[in-house]
Amino acid sequence: MKNKNKFLLSVMALACLNSLNANAETFSFDTRNSLNSDTLVLFHSADSTTYSLDFLPQSTQDQLNLAVADNSFSGKRGEVLEILVPSEIDAKRVLLVGIGDAKTLTPGEINTLGGNIAAKLETVPQATVRVLTQGLNNAPLFGSELAHGIELRSYRYTQFKASNRVEKNYQIGVDDLSLNQKHHKNLQAVEAGVFLARDLTNAPAGNMYPESFANEARKLKSLGVKVTVLEAKDIERLNLGALAAVGKGSERPPKLVVAHWPGSKDAPIALVGKGITFDSGGYNIKATGTSIARMKSDMAGAATVLGTVKAMAIQKAPVNLVAIMPMAENMVSGHAMIPGDVITTAQGLTVEVLNTDAEGRLVLADGLWYARENYRPSVIIDVATLTGSKVSALGTVYAGLFTDSEQLVQQLTFAGQQVGEKVWRLPLDQAYDDELKSTIADLKNTGKEGSAGASAAAMFLKRFAGDQPWAHLDIAGHALTATDTAVVPAGATGYGVRLLSTWLTQPKAQN
Ligand code: BES
Ligand code: MN
Ligand code: ZN
Repeated sequence: MKNKNKFLLSVMALACLNSLNANAETFSFDTRNSLNSDTLVLFHSADSTTYSLDFLPQSTQDQLNLAVADNSFSGKRGEVLEILVPSEIDAKRVLLVGIGDAKTLTPGEINTLGGNIAAKLETVPQATVRVLTQGLNNAPLFGSELAHGIELRSYRYTQFKASNRVEKNYQIGVDDLSLNQKHHKNLQAVEAGVFLARDLTNAPAGNMYPESFANEARKLKSLGVKVTVLEAKDIERLNLGALAAVGKGSERPPKLVVAHWPGSKDAPIALVGKGITFDSGGYNIKATGTSIARMKSDMAGAATVLGTVKAMAIQKAPVNLVAIMPMAENMVSGHAMIPGDVITTAQGLTVEVLNTDAEGRLVLADGLWYARENYRPSVIIDVATLTGSKVSALGTVYAGLFTDSEQLVQQLTFAGQQVGEKVWRLPLDQAYDDELKSTIADLKNTGKEGSAGASAAAMFLKRFAGDQPWAHLDIAGHALTATDTAVVPAGATGYGVRLLSTWLTQPKAQN
């Protein structure tokens, strides 16, 4: 073999290792009732009509029933009872997991159960886990959705620190094998999208800047995604003046990254993601250490829309999807925007920049314009860590949804409920637009001090969103989690990939 080929092969092997690293659990599905494993996971519903422990040896059943009685385990959703060294079977432990009423389980709630199981088993030294989901007739996809939750929770960012946990080998017993295997394949595509978004967001700003983000996007070409990158000179030439202005304070030039998955002949759906790889605030510098330290995550919107494109491309989903990612680093320097500067957007509107920290709406203005001008999309959804005001209003329980389309409210709310990435509608109103009046330009980039900042920002975006249906998702607060949650270990969340992937691939209920 030629040396060059050898080199290529080892690079490919490394690339495979890398993707394995992100998630090294293995999963297989079967229809057996076998108990042969280190850990046995069984489910118990509140009404206990959907499942019985009949297949276990009598003495094991007695032991479990005793443990259930002693610990007042009722089968409530999320309850976990751990029984060590059960009698007569080979398993070292049994996890009995409460599922509540199986009829009312959403996929997201099943994912949560999976996440809880992964967390419970994290420090367990034995590798094999046998999960028996047979008999849950009200939830035919229980096994594959459970695997999804386990995998989402098992993600680790291993760029700078090795993960030392024992990787598990899950064997999941199901009733309908092909149904679950097929569904699990699609869920794994979504996971790949979530993990890409998490990797991009976890990466420190010193590593993840417009150029390196563009390079990560280019890797999707191998999946059939068309990736184009506008360089600083293109941004200048096309008069994307707002993106240029936000980026000009940095040593690292801005880019506009486009990733297009042409999976159908329909008019494209455009996703526009805010890509501020670091938001210092600019001259309106973020004053507290805690507010500035998290701002490597201000490109989470861009990460989410790129992750969604990856999920669709792996699935070969029949959707025509284009992601537009205006990327810039908002810095302080002799080249940076000066508070009070007036800039000209690609659409032609002039903006008085009264606060250099309200930079997200600026780059999105040019991103929205670019999406409309070049793709004539049937619908645009933008995703952005846009305002602290949104965090005050909704915390991280809901993302803020702004749209005039009742249909998008209904569809996105439903998709969010399904996967547990919930959205809540907040108002778009002309009164908030009135607050954006500037004395010397077409508009200013801030609303009224201390009032309804999320809606003012949304009305700013609306000026650039065009006539087709448009929705804005303010995901401020969602990009990073300080503590482990059910399906997300501490760190970047990849929030929105599951919501948008579900919205894109589920038949949409008509209203
Ligand atoms: N990236 C921030 C918004 C943000 C805040 C995200 C907290 C995540 C957590 C955004 O660029 C910003 O600084 N917004 C300002 C706008 C204001 C100056 C009008 C804000 O919300 O304070
Ligand atoms: Mn800012
Ligand atoms: Zn920002």
